[in-house]
Amino acid sequence: AGQPVKPALTQIPPHVSNLADYATLAREHLEAHAWAHLESGADQGLTLAHNRKAFDQIRLRPEPLADLSQAHTRQNLLGQPFEWPLLLAPVAYQRLAHADGELATARAAMAMRTGMVVSTLSSYTLEEIAQAAHTAAQELGRSGPLWFQLYQQPSREHTLKLIRRAETAGYQALVWTIDAHIKRSSYPLPPGVEAANLRGMPEQRQTSDLMSEHILLGTDLTQSAPTWDDLVWLRAQTQLPLIVKGVLSASAAAKAVALGADAIVVSNHGGRVLDGAVSPLEVLPPIRAAVPAHIPLLMDSGVRHGTDVLKAIALGASAVMVGRPQMHALAVAGMLGVAHMLYLLRAEFELAMAQTGCQSIENIEKNLLTTYQM
Ligand code: FNR
Repeated sequence: AGQPVKPALTQIPPHVSNLADYATLAREHLEAHAWAHLESGADQGLTLAHNRKAFDQIRLRPEPLADLSQAHTRQNLLGQPFEWPLLLAPVAYQRLAHADGELATARAAMAMRTGMVVSTLSSYTLEEIAQAAHTAAQELGRSGPLWFQLYQQPSREHTLKLIRRAETAGYQALVWTIDAHIKRSSYPLPPGVEAANLRGMPEQRQTSDLMSEHILLGTDLTQSAPTWDDLVWLRAQTQLPLIVKGVLSASAAAKAVALGADAIVVSNHGGRVLDGAVSPLEVLPPIRAAVPAHIPLLMDSGVRHGTDVLKAIALGASAVMVGRPQMHALAVAGMLGVAHMLYLLRAEFELAMAQTGCQSIENIEKNLLTTYQM
């Protein structure tokens, strides 16, 4: 029982003016368990809360009078054109938020010339999503980068199958997520929502099954967890750019690059894995210093406003990703919601660039920032 769930809107209410508004509204459009699953952080939620505090304690120095006549947000990353420095982070099972799920998200991303990373655990197949993106891009004459997020499967044969499917479907990079293999989770998927890409493949045992037996180390889960050897193996399997997601230390970033990673996503998985983990924002500067300048650093976890994008870039990110906000917007108004959410974020980011006198992404530097400790 509980509160009835409101159907998605077909128009955006005029008062929706930022991502927090979408989060507030989304609660009425999501089933209570789905909402709790989406919003949750690991254990006590320390890292979840800290992700926001890390952004909020940084202050920006305004810089009026700069010449903004040629200002823009474009850049190239991994040889791909980015209209602005934001991507939709991989978020599993988007049919939890809307019947059109990842198809709607992909169309919205293309419409807003924004990158999208499709999860291994998508609720439509990676081929269906690529097709939706491709068709939307053709119809609209606009597009953005489309990447595939890879979770290592219990066998290399099945991991390789996913890689080949992503290549064939036209994905332009692989994002290998390393931080969530061993994670507490006990959310039962409602009927009609499944891991569409993994039909017919052996299932991964859940940490929750093992935790109930009070065992973890030495089980099949720890035995199949990704290792540095798997990175070496992966690198040899594909020509696609390989991006390692879930790095939080300078040493791990440097090692990943030495073993062939083309880029890094500095992330704590939105505070959903190790509670007490550092926030990406506070480790960006040492990680930036530890990897060669031509290696892009992406970051996510806690980005909710255009000024957050500016702060992350000033601290060394090349681009940022948002996770939960795409599910909020999807639940509220499907494709239209996601497109509008991206529009709001981009407008806020451009405003922040203008108010801090930044003509381009390369101009966004640490001297814009000051840190205020409570
Ligand atoms: C995720 N995330 C995630 N990451 C990934 O690599 N593969 C996945 O399938 C998922 N699935 C997923 C589901 C849900 C419900 C959430 C909230 C997150 C993590 C995601 O890519 C990203 O790292 C975080 O969401 C970023 O934090 P914010 O923006 O949600 O604060």
